[in-house]
Amino acid sequence: MKIKSVCAVYFSPAGSTKSVAERIAGTVAAALEVPFRSIDFTLPSARTEKYRFPSDELVVFGTPTYAGRIPNKALPFVQELFEGEGTPAVSIVTYGNRNFDSSLTELVEEMGKNGFAVFAAAAWACRHVFSPKIAPGRPDEADLSKIDTFAKECAARICAGDAGSFKAPVIRGGEPVAPYYVPKGVDGQPAKFLKAKPLTDAAKCTNCGICAKVCPMGSVSFEDYSVVTGVCIKCQACVVKCPEGAKYFDDAAFLSHVQMLEQNFTRRSEPECFFGE
Ligand SMILES: Cc1cc2nc3c(=O)[nH]c(=O)nc-3n(C[C@H](O)[C@H](O)[C@H](O)COP(=O)(O)O)c2cc1C
Ligand code: SF4
Ligand code: SF4
Repeated sequence: MKIKSVCAVYFSPAGSTKSVAERIAGTVAAALEVPFRSIDFTLPSARTEKYRFPSDELVVFGTPTYAGRIPNKALPFVQELFEGEGTPAVSIVTYGNRNFDSSLTELVEEMGKNGFAVFAAAAWACRHVFSPKIAPGRPDEADLSKIDTFAKECAARICAGDAGSFKAPVIRGGEPVAPYYVPKGVDGQPAKFLKAKPLTDAAKCTNCGICAKVCPMGSVSFEDYSVVTGVCIKCQACVVKCPEGAKYFDDAAFLSHVQMLEQNFTRRSEPECFFGE
C-alpha cells in the first residue's frame, strides 16, 4: 500500500505520550520516506475542529492511561473529533509503571468505531507523573530501541499489506474493557481524591502564567494563577511545567495513593506490543 504521510495524534498533558507517539510516527515516516506531522489535542484550543484522515495517511494515535483506561475527560474527544476513511492506524498508550489495564483495548475499540483500520498497538511504561520516584527517566535508551523496532515492524506491515485486509490486534488475549481502576492508599483502602486541586506556593510563584496555558481543562484562572476554576483531572501538567516548582498537591488521600505506588510499583514494567494477525 502506498502511504503518502504519517500523522502523530495525541493527548499528552505532561509530555510522555507526545514523545512516544512522535518517535513512532517519525521512525515510520523515515522508513517509508514520507513526511510526518502532529496533531496535539491536549489543549482546548486544538479541540474546536474535527479531523478527518484519508486512507493514504498512517495515523499513530496516543493517550495516557488514567485509572486503567483512556482518561475519562479525553474519551469524548477521541470519540467525536477524529475520523478515518479506512485509514491505517497504530494505537498506543503510555502508563506510569503500574499497569495499563484496559486503556489499550479501549483505544483500539474506539478507533475501530471511527473508521480507522488499526493493525498494531502498544503500551509503553513511562515516568509516573505523580512521582519522580516511579519509572524515572523512562522512556529510556532501552525503551527507545524497542519503540524503533516496533515502528519499523509497523512500516514493514504497511508496505506488505492493504488497510482493507488489516485485522485489529488482540490485546492481552482479548480481555474486555474493565471498570476504572480504583486508586488505593497505603492502608489498601480506596483513596478518594476526585475533588483535589493543585495549590500554589506564593513565595515561589513569579506569575509567569505557564500553568494556565498548559492546563488541558482550561481550569487554571488567567486572572489569578493560584485559582482553579473548573475540573481538575490531576494530570500534573501545571505541576511539572511550572518553572519555579510552585504548584503542588497537599490532598491527604492523593498523597497516600502516591506513597502506595512508590512502595509497590518500582519494579520495571516492560512495554507490550501487539499486531493484528
Ligand atoms: C489521573 C491519573 C491517573 C493515572 N492512572 C494510571 C494507571 O492507572 N496506571 C498507570 O500505570 N499509570 C497511571 N498514570 C500515569 C500516567 O499514565 C503516565 O504518567 C503517563 O505517561 C502520562 O502521560 P503524559 O506524560 O503524556 O501526560 C496516571 C496518571 C494520572 C494523571
Ligand atoms: S507556572 Fe508556576 S510560577 Fe508560573 S504562574 Fe503558574 S505557579 Fe506561578
Ligand atoms: S489544574 Fe489540574 S487539570 Fe489543570 S493542569 Fe493542573 S493538574 Fe492538570
